[in-house]
Amino acid sequence: MPNSENHSGGLSKISNSRHYSFSVVVVLFIFSVAAVLPLLFSMMSIHLFRQRNVIMTVDRVAAKLSFEDIHNDYDFVQFSEGLKAMQKPPYIVFYDSSNLDIFLNHICNLEFIPNALSRLVAISFDTNSHMILQEKYPKIPSVVVDLDPIKESLEETYENRRYIIYQLVLLTRTRVCASLALRGINYWAMQQDSLWIENFESMNIEDRYSDQYMLFDTVGNEQATAMITFNFQLPEYKRMHGWICGSTYFVRGNPTTHQFFMQVDAFMRSHQSPDSSIMTYLCGHRNYKCHRLPRWIISSSDYFRGTRETTPVMIQVDSDQKEETKMELFQRANFIFRHDNGTCDRRAVHKLRDAVRLAFPEKLKTLGQNMYAEGLLTRLYYAYKHIFNVDRYNNKVFLTVHYTLI
Ligand SMILES: *[C@@H]1O[C@H](CO)[C@@H](O)[C@H](O)[C@H]1NC(C)=O
Repeated sequence: MPNSENHSGGLSKISNSRHYSFSVVVVLFIFSVAAVLPLLFSMMSIHLFRQRNVIMTVDRVAAKLSFEDIHNDYDFVQFSEGLKAMQKPPYIVFYDSSNLDIFLNHICNLEFIPNALSRLVAISFDTNSHMILQEKYPKIPSVVVDLDPIKESLEETYENRRYIIYQLVLLTRTRVCASLALRGINYWAMQQDSLWIENFESMNIEDRYSDQYMLFDTVGNEQATAMITFNFQLPEYKRMHGWICGSTYFVRGNPTTHQFFMQVDAFMRSHQSPDSSIMTYLCGHRNYKCHRLPRWIISSSDYFRGTRETTPVMIQVDSDQKEETKMELFQRANFIFRHDNGTCDRRAVHKLRDAVRLAFPEKLKTLGQNMYAEGLLTRLYYAYKHIFNVDRYNNKVFLTVHYTLI
């Protein structure tokens, strides 16, 4: 064999290089097929088309009310100056005509909590609700960031219109947050569907965590401390430890938090993700100095699915039934603090602690039921990811939670 190699040295070189170029072609072919296949699949996938359309529409319509438009708006600048002059960080509630009733109800909740109402300020997404609030509560500082022209520019039949508007509202809230942070204002972003059971104001949470830039609420419920019930954290949240809820959060206005919300903005225009998962993801970077508040201070609706041993200071109430309005839900749970004639009901606020404990008895029946049990494959998948340190804390997975909504 070595002999023949010596003799036909030239030939073998030629055939070698032919082999070489052939294998290059094969490898190139395999690579291009591998590269083109996902493209083909994505072109065939209607869902991805829809998703792309949603993301592009959100980006397009959001450009009609840019960060600069909001930041430099005369009324908004005046409003911001007012916030800056406040002695304590304001509680900002964002609302529109669709949840004005819940907001008015919330104001009645705050009315009986010392020093709470004086810190409340309001940002409306339509002129109509703003006018009504001003008329009823002229002392509450308020401003309009009008989204009606953008909503009207999207015809009623536009695919996924509701979801696009939902994203637009959250994106606008993010821009407001970025703007206030740029002006160096410290503030709480809050929601009108939160119940104040105790005096949250007097706790001075923002002073207790003075070295943190942002404080967030989280989803899930409190783990029971007793050994027997150690497994009570809702199973679907086990993989989402520290997942931000995003209904109540504190922001210390500075260049870093401004940059944080500009990042959320950019993310929301290029991904189909809710702001809460994006904030969770970005908070993975320790320089943002995010801190998660314990659930005995602020809890999401998941409180109602737990043992209810400790009543949180504040609970945000989500509605999960489509056929019921939020007001009807609040009625059902005795969370109404406002009479029909517009006066506030002190007794209802005082009885709130009991109301919260007794609310939604149907949810207690599902206690301990493992509705979201994970299969062996899923568990193996997560074990694999954990071992190889791929998205170890599942922060990236959270970014996909809304994919099934469109
Ligand atoms: C408003 O309605 C409540 C309950 O019906 C009543 O107790 C209260 O006196 C009314 N207030 C005014 C000012 O009419």
